[in-house]
Amino acid sequence: MPKSKNKIYFVCEDCGADHTKWQGQCGSCGAWNTLKQYLAPTIDKSTSQLDSGFGYANAPSLISDLDQVELSEKTRIFTGFSEFDRVLGGGFIEGSVVLLGGDPGAGKSTLLLQALAKIKETKKVLYVTGEESLEQLAIRARRLGLSAEGLSVATETRAQAIANHISEHSPDVVIIDSIQVMQLESLDSTPGSLSQVRETAAYFTRLAKTRGVVIVLVGHITKEGGLAGPKVLEHMIDCFMMLESPAASRFRTLRAIKNRFGAVNELGVFAMTEHGMKEIINPSAIFLEKGESSAPGSAITVIWEGTRPMLIEIQALVDRSVSQPKRVCLGLDHHRLSMHLAALNRHTGISLIDWDVFANVVGGVKISETAPDLALLISIISSYQNKLIPEDCVIFGEIGLTGELRPVANGQERLREAQKHGFKKALIPLANSPKRDQDGMEIFAAKNLFEAIKVLGFG
Ligand code: TYD
Ligand code: MG
Repeated sequence: MPKSKNKIYFVCEDCGADHTKWQGQCGSCGAWNTLKQYLAPTIDKSTSQLDSGFGYANAPSLISDLDQVELSEKTRIFTGFSEFDRVLGGGFIEGSVVLLGGDPGAGKSTLLLQALAKIKETKKVLYVTGEESLEQLAIRARRLGLSAEGLSVATETRAQAIANHISEHSPDVVIIDSIQVMQLESLDSTPGSLSQVRETAAYFTRLAKTRGVVIVLVGHITKEGGLAGPKVLEHMIDCFMMLESPAASRFRTLRAIKNRFGAVNELGVFAMTEHGMKEIINPSAIFLEKGESSAPGSAITVIWEGTRPMLIEIQALVDRSVSQPKRVCLGLDHHRLSMHLAALNRHTGISLIDWDVFANVVGGVKISETAPDLALLISIISSYQNKLIPEDCVIFGEIGLTGELRPVANGQERLREAQKHGFKKALIPLANSPKRDQDGMEIFAAKNLFEAIKVLGFG
């Protein structure tokens, strides 16, 4: 049979939109230089490798009433790490596909190998690597002190061969390390290309659904910071999580970006040690590792990640500007920083127009909520006026454009977390004031920015 030519089109790496012609800007999301050539697989309906073996391609669909749909109680498979399980929403769900992204060296392979060593005690597992030799894997397992018995491994990059292994051995959990080196032979583009990544991921997804096996796809981050086409994969997988490694830190954070079976924004914290990944059950303690003594510009706040509070330090440095004033912030939204500086000027008269402002979240945590607003601004004023924030004081609260302090969710739990770590004072929005006395904790509740600054003796 003559091989029909693959259809070529272009897919935006950011939003996944298809285009028939290459263009500099994506017509759908407006991003520049994100279109990548994509070779659509030629699918021969009768013998297509994409659908063969799964047996559902021609099954007719039925219409049912939603309340008539039978609910099977899906069992969860635990990884042996409570931090990992929590981010997954309570462990792996049968037949689900999880994409684990992260920089090379973040510890993806290590974490998954350790998890498999635990899972194999009750389930059948398979670790497929296309990146390392079996010997390297064995050396790593020994170094991690893992029992290798019953831990099935294979080096393979051909998706169909992996499917064969899965049907022969019927494992419950399969790791594919990594999706970038895997290929479908029916597709003549190179491994790692958008077409290969998309089609092999789709192939493994169908495999997981039809066989009820958990498949974890490992994905590397490209230099630009994106997993080759993360948006292209996001819709087909059940769960997308990122293992992040802040620069020069031994801590790793695991975050769910999409999860069909649990909450997103849960944060798991690990440390990379010489014996592999160790979970950090009490992350507040490590993110608070303070220097000798506190200095102006340092403020402690309580963030809320998923289902739990976490104490972190925000540092600011305000310095006289020599040219265009700089506003730089790491781990925080720089638009909010500009907004707060405007509110500060307008409502308290403190103007930083001729000053550079730098802000950083210690430990490399990225913050997406608004509760640290007040701590950020207070740390900036503290640096600007060279005055210390009391060491035993936590600060949280959202700042509105009119300079008012707005309450944040879970105020009570945040206060309790601070108290647990020995904080004696808290500066919070009035609307977050605890109804009952917070034993042994002095609460400064302020209505607006002006009051908050006065309470600390700034301004
Ligand atoms: P790895 O799991 O190979 O990362 P990934 O799969 O995400 O690319 O981890 C590699 C890094 O971790 C490497 O720099 C060495 C370090 N490491 C340790 O510090 N301790 C250990 O026990 C192991 C196995 C690795
Ligand atoms: Mg690896």
